[in-house]
Amino acid sequence: MSEEKGMLRTAVVTGGNSGVGLATASALGKKGYKVWIAGRNAEKGADAVTRLRPYCPGGIAFLQLDVMLFSGIEQFVRTLRPQLGGRLDALVHSMGTVGTKRKVSADGLEEGWATQFLGRYLLTEALTPELSKSEDGRVVFVSANAPKKPQLFEDDPSLEKNFSTLRAIVQNQSACVLYEQMYAADHPSGPAINGAVAGLVRDTGITRAQPGFARAIGGVMFHFFGITPTQSATNIVALASDPALKDISGSFFSKPQDLEKRQKLTYDETHVASLRRLLSRYAGVRNTLLSV
Ligand SMILES: NC(=O)c1ccc[n+]([C@@H]2O[C@H](COP(=O)([O-])OP(=O)(O)OC[C@H]3O[C@@H](n4cnc5c(N)ncnc54)[C@H](OP(=O)(O)O)[C@@H]3O)[C@@H](O)[C@H]2O)c1
Repeated sequence: MSEEKGMLRTAVVTGGNSGVGLATASALGKKGYKVWIAGRNAEKGADAVTRLRPYCPGGIAFLQLDVMLFSGIEQFVRTLRPQLGGRLDALVHSMGTVGTKRKVSADGLEEGWATQFLGRYLLTEALTPELSKSEDGRVVFVSANAPKKPQLFEDDPSLEKNFSTLRAIVQNQSACVLYEQMYAADHPSGPAINGAVAGLVRDTGITRAQPGFARAIGGVMFHFFGITPTQSATNIVALASDPALKDISGSFFSKPQDLEKRQKLTYDETHVASLRRLLSRYAGVRNTLLSV
């Protein structure tokens, strides 16, 4: 019930201590939301809170979250849930990493899979009871462009056997779009869920984290063709908060700053079924998170 009279609206932004997430948190703060930002790095989090405080009259807080570990996700939910007081209006997922080397956690999760999809999925499921208490609950997945043909590696989602950055990106974006489609179908009366492409965004952690040569090339490209995090956040903020977009769910906004450029997701049921099978192996974690 985001427009409930006199009620403070609330938003959680994963990846909110940096880049596009930080710009999104700032914009939602200016709209009066109470905002929780989440990420691994507490120092970056404290810094972001200091920067955001003047723009967040409703309140701003950082909560530590590491989605590489199931215990990290559980700890986050355990800390956040009592603070929400039963209701959440917007959940924006902007966390993400793009690695050129395979990194895997103690839980066997590959970093891109955990940050770009699985962690987002588990948190969305965990917070759906609170999002459903809002009359206008919104979920937004920030991502790169979606592949025309989805591809999931159902037996090996952490790409143990055959990792490449491209395979990881294709799988992660496919899973995001399939899940957005699936969630919209499973929740016809809301919460609404949509995907938004970040675009080529300069001055973010992702662009800074590339190895030397790629960073040098990327630096020039991003400088001339990149948009700012604030520009990138335009669609994301609208999808998270604009009352006029209340009834849009299961769409994918493929061009930053252009809400007309949207495609109704058209991935077929065979692929959605494949994702459901893949997700069934995380049913125990999901159920634990719902009971926390
Ligand atoms: N920049 C671009 O050109 C571009 C293009 C296409 C798509 N995107 C997508 O847009 C989103 C935002 O990216 P950005 O450019 O704003 O990058 P960014 O500045 O590096 O932000 C990424 C965020 O993810 C968080 N994060 C990383 N690993 C995490 C983990 N294990 N657990 C929890 N949080 C974690 C980081 O916080 P900590 O470091 O504190 O964990 C940071 O806040 C990402 O999903 C990215 O893939 C960006």
